[in-house]
Amino acid sequence: MNPPQMKNLTLLLLLLLLFSLHLTSVLSWKKDEFRNCNQTPFCKRARSRKPAPSSLIATDVSVSDGDLVAKITNRRDDQIKPLILSLSAYQDGILRLKIDEDPSSIPPPPKKRFEVPNVVVPEFTSKKLWLQNLDTKTLDGDSSPSSIVYLNEEYDAVLRHEPFEIYVRDKSSGKRVISLNSHGLFDFEQLKHKKPKSDQEEEKHDHDQYQDDDQDQDQVQVKEEKDEDENWAETFRGHTDSRPYGPQSISFDVSFYGADFVYGIPEHATSFALKPTRGPGLEDHSEPYRLFNLDVFEYVNEAPFGLYGSIPFMISHGKTHGTSGFFWLNAAEMQIDVLTAGWDADSGISLPSDRSRIDTLWMSEAGIVDAFFFVGPKPKDVVRQYTSVTGTPAMPQLFATAYHQCRWNYRDEEDVENVDTKFDENNIPYDVLWLDIEHTDGKRYFTWDRVMFPHPEEMQNKLAAKGRHMVTIVDPHTKRDDGYFLHKEATQKGYYVKDANGNDFDGWCWPGSSSYPDTLNPEIRSWWADRFSYENYVGSTPSLYIWNDMNEPSVFNGPELTMPRDALHYGGVEHRELHNVYGYYFHMATADGLQKRGNGKDRPFVLSRAIFAGSQRYGAIWTGDNTAEWEHLRVSVPMILSLGLTGISFSGADVGGFFGNPEPELLVRWYQVGAFYPFFRAHAHHDTKRREPWLFGERNTELIRDAIHVRYMLLPYFYTLFREANTSGVPVVRPLWMEFPSEEATFNNDEAFMVGNSILVQGIYAERAKHASVYLPGKQSWYDLRTGTTYKGSTTYKLDISEDSIPAFQRAGTIIPRKDRFRRSSTQMVNDPYTLVIALNSSQAAEGELYVDDGKSFDFKHGAYIHRRFVFADGKLTSVNLAPTSPGNSRFSTSSVVERIILLGNASRPKSAHIESTNLNVDIELGPLWLQRGRGSAVVTIRKPGVRIADDWTIKIL
Ligand code: GLC
Repeated sequence: MNPPQMKNLTLLLLLLLLFSLHLTSVLSWKKDEFRNCNQTPFCKRARSRKPAPSSLIATDVSVSDGDLVAKITNRRDDQIKPLILSLSAYQDGILRLKIDEDPSSIPPPPKKRFEVPNVVVPEFTSKKLWLQNLDTKTLDGDSSPSSIVYLNEEYDAVLRHEPFEIYVRDKSSGKRVISLNSHGLFDFEQLKHKKPKSDQEEEKHDHDQYQDDDQDQDQVQVKEEKDEDENWAETFRGHTDSRPYGPQSISFDVSFYGADFVYGIPEHATSFALKPTRGPGLEDHSEPYRLFNLDVFEYVNEAPFGLYGSIPFMISHGKTHGTSGFFWLNAAEMQIDVLTAGWDADSGISLPSDRSRIDTLWMSEAGIVDAFFFVGPKPKDVVRQYTSVTGTPAMPQLFATAYHQCRWNYRDEEDVENVDTKFDENNIPYDVLWLDIEHTDGKRYFTWDRVMFPHPEEMQNKLAAKGRHMVTIVDPHTKRDDGYFLHKEATQKGYYVKDANGNDFDGWCWPGSSSYPDTLNPEIRSWWADRFSYENYVGSTPSLYIWNDMNEPSVFNGPELTMPRDALHYGGVEHRELHNVYGYYFHMATADGLQKRGNGKDRPFVLSRAIFAGSQRYGAIWTGDNTAEWEHLRVSVPMILSLGLTGISFSGADVGGFFGNPEPELLVRWYQVGAFYPFFRAHAHHDTKRREPWLFGERNTELIRDAIHVRYMLLPYFYTLFREANTSGVPVVRPLWMEFPSEEATFNNDEAFMVGNSILVQGIYAERAKHASVYLPGKQSWYDLRTGTTYKGSTTYKLDISEDSIPAFQRAGTIIPRKDRFRRSSTQMVNDPYTLVIALNSSQAAEGELYVDDGKSFDFKHGAYIHRRFVFADGKLTSVNLAPTSPGNSRFSTSSVVERIILLGNASRPKSAHIESTNLNVDIELGPLWLQRGRGSAVVTIRKPGVRIADDWTIKIL
């Protein structure tokens, strides 16, 4: 063997070793691979500070460019350079706070700190309320002045000068809503120049102040070498982070008033209402919620550890104030503590409305303070306010809202064809077939394994002929192979992220040695987007869409399986500053690519694993590599609820569980819950047994078919909800309290969820469950979705359950549009007739909406859609137009008709129905509810009213 061959062999062996290491780690979660707070210097330091009146003061307060601006000075230490602060008000009661180093300080900071670009939508900036005059006065009970910023009729913001504190309050009562630095924990480590050796002693002194007494185990692993090494290097499990600018973290306390619970800050596999992480009654070693995008193998449920995505947005909800929110636009590693009452007992701080206050501590490794306060006060107000900053969810194509079939991997074209045919043979609809990494030529994305997939276009076209689509995976790690066109081009153009020495960063992932495109750079994003043109992505067709995985980014041989923090991006930005947003830019560039390709008319579909605030604008997300266990089915619901509350409406979990083999009962239950996830996809690891829906015997096939059918029937309702999310930010799947904000019993219920405002779903999360306890909120009744059986609201029921279905109910007073005919895919249902299910309330009234467009293009943005409101009152059902009619708009229409109207809870026994527009009478049937297969309570069915869904009409019950 000659030397180059030896080298290749060694590389191959190394690759195999790493691969097998990766696979074995798949068997269990390796807690030790990931840092805890004590092993994370900034987190440990921030947690060791004690609450006390702040030594910071606001000086030089003035109005400039419509903002309130000030300097933040430390009154105890004039060696600390002042920071600059700005407060701006925006429409809808939003306050933005920025705090950064002062570029004009002497000496100036060594570089500009990273401000996350392209997350705040451009429209938001135009909503600024320009502050005209400085309004400074001494408020009741205060000894120092405060400056007031008008937010809206009900709320204003207060900058208290000494000690420095910011809060938003209700103007009429003076009650606080949210405050920052009320506990004096604000701390901002400024970037440092490398110092000559002689200055090291002073550094050492600073450093010693940070050390706390306990010399625990963690210090063996983590070494902060600031006192020994002028580069402030730090080591974790053999990985050294050079930290060329020294520690640069920021931390502060935030308090929510009138709050019973706090929620949000995904992504964690934990309860929806966030459990406290510190304070009296909690173990010393409890961890804060960590936001650091990581590829965590076999994550465990009930853990605050960081997963694939990070959204630093927290929402509080309670009986007293209602809902409020706090968002910190910062993409560095973040850790957040939720504190138990009394944690600040010795601080001497006494805050108003103590009893219903929740205090939190926010810590980030780098970046600036760019924070948004949202006043609510209703749950839907907060999501609207938040999505006015980060954007509302993109409107998906219709097919993407239907059922997706995935597996790592569908082997070859024959396998694809067999799976596709079997769906038809088993009368199970599905819309999308997915191909995982093995479809490529050696994990070189944008290529095909030409042995297994010799005719990719033909394969896609065959699916497309049935109205189906295909998704292929494209990950960011790019194989470092000189013969690979993508690598060649990226190398030549200098498009890769650099390591700390300025060379192309080289890390290990699926293909072995890989580099990563630097999608922070707009030029590189544009180049990346162009890779998806039909010309560049050979073998792709218009029915092909994309899956972005491993974009945290996952680096098998990197610290904590990701990129080193001192890697370098466009503009000299350190990876530590943008880590959590890397995957977001990659997702963004891919979605732009799909939008640009071909005629540029179709809405993209891109599924991403890594997420950041704003990811909702670029596509769907899923909760990563879960496990085929009941507890993972259970935790999928709070995970999806948290994502929805923080803007990411289009999300789902791998149905069936990614790792392991689900028992048929678990698989069936997962389909029954999954049918209500906004993103409904089955997926499995390659080591698991095949688990397509027909592989578990007749009965289980029937049950899975049923669950998928329910989703297809409800597609018109789901699609209407996707549009609601697209216009208002209100998520498709919501916590009960979003619809019933004053019902305390719902505040920490995360086993049940609402789909829109009309359907309540209760998952079944235990084997052989015979009963389920279900709380039905509100004053109105609920109708069992299948039987029509009525249940009174504000009551907990112990319901008998069978394997057939999970409990699901329609809320009285709502109307749900359905399509009940079974087809192969959603696209084949486009012209099908509708069924309207009217659930009457105690006043014999109900209303609902339907949104329809071409399901594909962006024409809806120019008015090409149908939006109807159905109102039932006084024995009449009326359909009214909700869409604005402006003459220049291109219009969309459909000849679909209403084929059936089902009335639940009708007090009378009507004989027929009169269609006012045609002056015709149609039959009425009294019979069981369709879904129940012969067993239900009596309902009124108006047969074949024949009215067009697009028209205005009235139908009177006689
Ligand atoms: C990651 C993904 C998983 C995928 C696998 C192979 O583990 O989370 O969904 O199947 O990579 O691409």
